[in-house]
Amino acid sequence: ELAQIGVTGLAVMGRNLARNFARHGHRVAVHNRSYAKTESLIADHGDEGAFVPSASMADFVASLERPRRVIIMVKAGGPTDAVIDELVPLLEEGDIIIDAGNAHFPDTIRRENALKAVGLHFVGSGVSGGEEGALLGPSIMPGGSPTSYESLGPLLESISAKVDGTPCCTYVGPDGAGHFVKMVHNGIEYADMQLIAEAYDLIRQGTGKSAAEIADIFRSWNEGDLESFLIEITAEVLAQVDPETGQALVDVILDQAEQKGTGRWTVQNALDLGVPITGIAEATFARALSGSVPQREAARASLPGHVAEWSIRDADAFVEDVRQALYASKIVAYSQGFDQIAAASAEYDWNIDRGAMARIWRGGCIIRARFLNRITEAYERTPDLALLIADPYFTEAVSAALPAWRRVVAGAAQNGIPTPAFSSSLAYYDGIRAERLPAALIQGQRDFFGAHTYRRVDRPGSFHIEWSGDRSETAIDG
Ligand code: 6PG
Repeated sequence: ELAQIGVTGLAVMGRNLARNFARHGHRVAVHNRSYAKTESLIADHGDEGAFVPSASMADFVASLERPRRVIIMVKAGGPTDAVIDELVPLLEEGDIIIDAGNAHFPDTIRRENALKAVGLHFVGSGVSGGEEGALLGPSIMPGGSPTSYESLGPLLESISAKVDGTPCCTYVGPDGAGHFVKMVHNGIEYADMQLIAEAYDLIRQGTGKSAAEIADIFRSWNEGDLESFLIEITAEVLAQVDPETGQALVDVILDQAEQKGTGRWTVQNALDLGVPITGIAEATFARALSGSVPQREAARASLPGHVAEWSIRDADAFVEDVRQALYASKIVAYSQGFDQIAAASAEYDWNIDRGAMARIWRGGCIIRARFLNRITEAYERTPDLALLIADPYFTEAVSAALPAWRRVVAGAAQNGIPTPAFSSSLAYYDGIRAERLPAALIQGQRDFFGAHTYRRVDRPGSFHIEWSGDRSETAIDG
């Protein structure tokens, strides 16, 4: 009997995806470069369902029903290309290769083009949820051709997380759309994590509460609007005691945040598209700052703080302010991420349904959160919504939080607590809603030194001042 789907690359993610398919009653072909991993999968979990192990890629491909559906779960970049090159001669027209790793979307576009030319479907799919998600139900973001989704979609939907019975998997859009959306998901993940870290730091430094006490605060926050996987695990991490020293674990972890690159890609793409994703960018740079070891040493040795006396009279009220500031900043970060998806969708002709993306992020993925329901509802109300914060629900939520948000950012600045994500999100909020921006002055400066011209508020066209002459204005023909 032939297998319905195959997984090659049986490190922890691939292994768990294969087990998830088997547990859902699908016959799953499994392959790994070294057969030992395949054998250990069968030895440890062979009783969970129908696995078809193969030692060679040729046998693996031969064990699949047509159209063949092959999931590649190896490292992004060169290793993925190597596996594709090995598969292509073994496959036949109409077969589907699925790359479920964290690929960079331009690579996905390139691969899809190349494989289309030889009659194969290539599906770049985001998969979020870590090891546990892969096994118990991830959020899945497949791109590629709509035809490939007809055959692949039901299988992926069956193993995805479900929220209110709805699968956290849907067709995202052509070629690189799936991996793009996963990339932005990770960018939002960076922003959300940074915001949570800033909230923790403010409370710790502002009130002197212990990590364990702050764990309890996060637990209580997880009962309200902030309910999310990241808040939940934050409480777990803060409550953890270091077995060796008996201190809070968070106090013995080196304070240098690492990354594998998806956040950086998100910011790079936002710069290309000109989308101000300031929350994600600050979060990515905050990781970079934390890892700037020589610079931090030099700065610690010499730079003064001149901070005000930190006087928080009512700790509970301050904690509540931080909670509200966190929620408002989080709304801004998501709004910016959805803006980037809209801009990319227009730029690359992907026709991405933003409400559907919020829907498939409600479960399974790292940024799963109660408030994603609100995002879906906002895009259902207004499918072409220009700005998520301008939806009535979010406008109301942010405006209710605004006084607290301003108090927190001002207090942090006066007391020398770095809050790049909180502060930049508030600056974005005030910038985007401003009646007039000083961008007008920048245009004047540009015209002065480079004759770059400016447009006027009162009539169409481009204009230039004879700065070094009589300072008269000339209209420039377009
Ligand atoms: C997910 C995660 C996953 C991975 C991140 C970690 O959605 O399941 O985002 O993809 O854990 O890539 O990213 P960094 O190592 O860059 O923090």
